[in-house]
Amino acid sequence: MCLVLVVGNPANTNCLIAAKSAPSIPKENFSCLTRLDHNRARSQVAIRCGVPATHVRNVIIWGNHSSTQYPDVHHCLVNMSGSDLACFDVVKDDAWLKGDFITTVQQRGAAVIKARKLSSAMSAAKAICDHMRDIWSGTPEGEFTSMGVFSSGNSYGVPDDLIYSFPVQIKDKTWKIVEGLAINDFSRTKMDATAAELIEERDTAVAFLGV
Ligand code: LMR
Repeated sequence: MCLVLVVGNPANTNCLIAAKSAPSIPKENFSCLTRLDHNRARSQVAIRCGVPATHVRNVIIWGNHSSTQYPDVHHCLVNMSGSDLACFDVVKDDAWLKGDFITTVQQRGAAVIKARKLSSAMSAAKAICDHMRDIWSGTPEGEFTSMGVFSSGNSYGVPDDLIYSFPVQIKDKTWKIVEGLAINDFSRTKMDATAAELIEERDTAVAFLGV
């Protein structure tokens, strides 16, 4: 079996082009890294709530590994003294969760490059290990993670033929997009914006390469 994880930017579109260029490998075997963003979102919430990151689950990164990505905490749970509570109820600061939290995660990669004069290294390596471990061992019961995967046939109205980051659960080395999560108008607008960027990237790459 050949599993392909694409990390180099633009990771989603590079992954799409790799998959199109290697048609003998099943499309489901390709994914791109948004675990870096997922881990960043989880940490931001954990710091805000004063708990370890392991007490925060089910953040979602939708879309592109770029500054249009949508870090979504509408389904995120925070374990406070043994009880799982909705992130919005624990943080009690909707303006932050819908504002600075999102932009901080969206721009973290650029902030790391500015501070280090180099791209992220250890955090990317850690995220790659997390991504591959979850593919190999599965996601814990009741938890989902974020991965850039093929969008075709998804139930969230994301256009087909993109590598788009979704919430996924993994069992027997097979990922499945988590179904049935409620999407409000705020989330819809952000999910559509990052999809629009991916369509533009795909169309430019396909026109240039002729794949
Ligand atoms: C990151 O998110 O840290 C990196 O993808 C940034 C980059 O462009 O290397």
